[in-house]
Amino acid sequence: MSQDLFEAARDAMAFAHAPYSKFPVGAAIRADDGKIYTGANIENLSFPQGWCAEPTAIGCMVMGGAKKIVEMAVIAEKLALCPPCGGCRQKIAEFAAADTRIYLCDETGVKKTLTMEELLPLSFKTDLLG
Ligand code: THU
Repeated sequence: MSQDLFEAARDAMAFAHAPYSKFPVGAAIRADDGKIYTGANIENLSFPQGWCAEPTAIGCMVMGGAKKIVEMAVIAEKLALCPPCGGCRQKIAEFAAADTRIYLCDETGVKKTLTMEELLPLSFKTDLLG
């Protein structure tokens, strides 16, 4: 992974709205249009209404007109590794391929690389709805 994706995820974390958990998370996607789309977690006083960094980045990507995640980086200030939560895995999978690489980072860089298939084995898939 090139440094720009890591730096984008790390910089995105600064935009987290996490007054309740005080747990900022940043995500960055390199999309099929070659651009980087970023996101941070956005919490809400009504706690279940908040959402994670990954869907913020996915929303930016979709609204930017891109269709596929080429690679993605995730970072959390307070965790050495921040594997995306279960719901985020399904959301990422919608726009990724089995071999799409997901980078788990700390403030120094990439600490672990996983493919989408490793991150979400046996994922929900069907042709019946497509
Ligand atoms: N969070 C993320 O942004 N991504 C994840 O994959 C895990 C959790 C956020 C949600 C919440 O704002 C905070 O981290 C604490 O759970």
